[in-house]
Amino acid sequence: MNEELMRRAEELLEKLTLEEKIGMIHGAELFATKGVERLGIPPLRFSDGTMGVRQEFAPDSWHAVGNTDDFVTYLPCGSAVAATWNRSLAKMAGSVLGAEARGRGKDVILGPGINIKRSPLCGRNFEYFSEDPYLTGQLAAAFVQGVQQWDVAACVKHFAANNQETKRLQVEVEIDEEALRSLYLPAFYETVKEGGTLSVMAAYNRLYGEHCCQSDFLLRKILRQEWGFDGLVVSDWGGVHDTKLAAQSSLDVEMSVTNDFDQYKMAEPLKKLVEAGEIPESAIDEKVFHILMTMMRLHMLDGSRKSGSYNTREHQNTALMMARESVVLLKNSQGILPLRKEACHRILVIGENGNRIHSNGGGSAEVKALYEITPLMGIKKLLGGNCRVDYVPGYCSDGFLGEDAGLDGSGDGQAENWQETSLENGGGSIKVQREDEAARRRRQAMRQEASALAASSQYDKVIFVGGLNHDFDSEGNDRADMKLPYDQDVLIGELLSVRPDMVMVLMGGSPVEMGRWVDRCSSLVWCWYGGMEGGTALAEVLFGQVNPSGKLPESFYQTIDDCSAHSVGEFPGTDKVRYREGVFVGYRYLDTFGKEPQFCFGHGLSYTEFTYGKASLGKASLSGEGNTVLCEITNTGCLPGKETVQVYLRQKERNPKQPYQELAGFEKIELQPGETRQVIVAFKGEFKGREIAVGSSSRDIRAIVCSPDGETDSKLLFTGTL
Ligand code: BGC
Repeated sequence: MNEELMRRAEELLEKLTLEEKIGMIHGAELFATKGVERLGIPPLRFSDGTMGVRQEFAPDSWHAVGNTDDFVTYLPCGSAVAATWNRSLAKMAGSVLGAEARGRGKDVILGPGINIKRSPLCGRNFEYFSEDPYLTGQLAAAFVQGVQQWDVAACVKHFAANNQETKRLQVEVEIDEEALRSLYLPAFYETVKEGGTLSVMAAYNRLYGEHCCQSDFLLRKILRQEWGFDGLVVSDWGGVHDTKLAAQSSLDVEMSVTNDFDQYKMAEPLKKLVEAGEIPESAIDEKVFHILMTMMRLHMLDGSRKSGSYNTREHQNTALMMARESVVLLKNSQGILPLRKEACHRILVIGENGNRIHSNGGGSAEVKALYEITPLMGIKKLLGGNCRVDYVPGYCSDGFLGEDAGLDGSGDGQAENWQETSLENGGGSIKVQREDEAARRRRQAMRQEASALAASSQYDKVIFVGGLNHDFDSEGNDRADMKLPYDQDVLIGELLSVRPDMVMVLMGGSPVEMGRWVDRCSSLVWCWYGGMEGGTALAEVLFGQVNPSGKLPESFYQTIDDCSAHSVGEFPGTDKVRYREGVFVGYRYLDTFGKEPQFCFGHGLSYTEFTYGKASLGKASLSGEGNTVLCEITNTGCLPGKETVQVYLRQKERNPKQPYQELAGFEKIELQPGETRQVIVAFKGEFKGREIAVGSSSRDIRAIVCSPDGETDSKLLFTGTL
């Protein structure tokens, strides 16, 4: 800690009355605390969210103010950031969010969301990065650094083990501590240590009998004592349940969703306990001290704070660059992609997602985007009038929003201010598809229309754009299953029967079942919620203006039974959820127990080819930590392209007690056709007794470096060969 800042914080602290201090540690508006005007201490202003700065709400109600000056840049979602596997892009995305938060007058931006994707069904997966702690930690730390360049605090959330929406306010996570520490905490640690995050949001759920927002174990023991975090700890909105426990824990600020601000647990009730001598005033001082330190680190008190900006061309361009690198080419077995613009005179686009806007949904991550280019618009603007583009929806979500026993951030009309009622019903439930005869008939008619058009000989190409939307990928609910909603499987099957060369594009925050048609389609592209330029980027990939380079940051299971949270553990729990699968999450489970994914972790094709030469172990990285692998990569294809070289530490033999392999390092590079480059990949982790595998995905290993047996000093330089 900077001693000068500490001294100034102490000085200010001494001048504050109990009343003023209490005002600083709880929400006095839905997104702000109280300041202390007489001492020049401003309120602390928070804003969601993870993909852009949220629109303004009235201070004491969840009614959007409806201004015309709070439109913003809409960035690709967290999963898309992860799919780029690109640290500098992650930092640039963070920088856009930070600049825009500052530009909109915010102090703390409530993101990134970095919970581990334990099951594809978690409703907030689209906000989160990956099933892998290393990938999440690396990219999230870079993202945080980007945000904080702008004198705005990032707020990594939700600490910790917040992996389902169902009953999120009360569910007790039962997990052994080793699994917690090796899978669910490392990304948070990385954002604290490497990212230098200035704030952390505690989660709603319970862990080891404590609500995370008032957990002594998580907040004091781990975060403060073990990791030395001296920044700001904020509760999730409505996550505090007990005045004493919250006061005694290392939580600094209590926020909630109701407007009875004085009745928040850390407001009047806490003041009374302090006055009655039941809680020492020093407990409040500790919290206020963290708040003051944060304000000083953000230059909120010294007049030297940077100014930000929003909706700049640069920000839009960053959103586009991110979107381009996040698109994952899953399959291209007949080489249909890229499409040739010159060869297209008339094409047909089918699918509601082709023409749907997603920015305005998802819960607190909703964004009031300045604009959003849909896939259809992206395709049309790329083709520029020389090709006629017809569109039919093929399926519809209208009237089929799904039974929602709890929350729906997408605003299905039942609860206009869903956040206000979000404390009800345990905070969340499962989204069930409602079977509605009228909707089914409508979809059948749409299918017939689409199939008939697709079958006609007038189209050079047919492109389907479907997948999920924020009726399903949303805060406050989990998906009931992994199936494509709205009878899309039937539609896709029918379309592929008449157009086997149809280009398939799916969108979503997590995988869907593809077994009913995947073998029959030859080209398949996955895009996430790609931000305001998502449609531009998708079109550029489809028509070869951009060579795809996204890689899956999570396993795409064949069915939900292949996911360990479901087959070994439980998902979702209600009062309790048992993480019986321990560390065997995602590829750690599939690879150890010999199960085939539909598409594996790290997978993503390119329009060019990369060959890998021999790999050897290099020197320890400059910081002296970790090691490096050297590998020669050549672009042997005809197009420039980007490749992510992945390093996994592997058991020499499969052993059910430990994950067979774990991602330990990666590096993304760009190569021109024919170019060869020696790539240096820094990696972390103990490799004694393990193989170092280098490859293009977790299941496409191209080189192995063997560590010599008996090697003890993992920092020693030696050369291994294949
Ligand atoms: C969400 C947080 C969000 C907060 C404020 C909560 O419901 O879980 O992620 O930042 O609301 O909107």
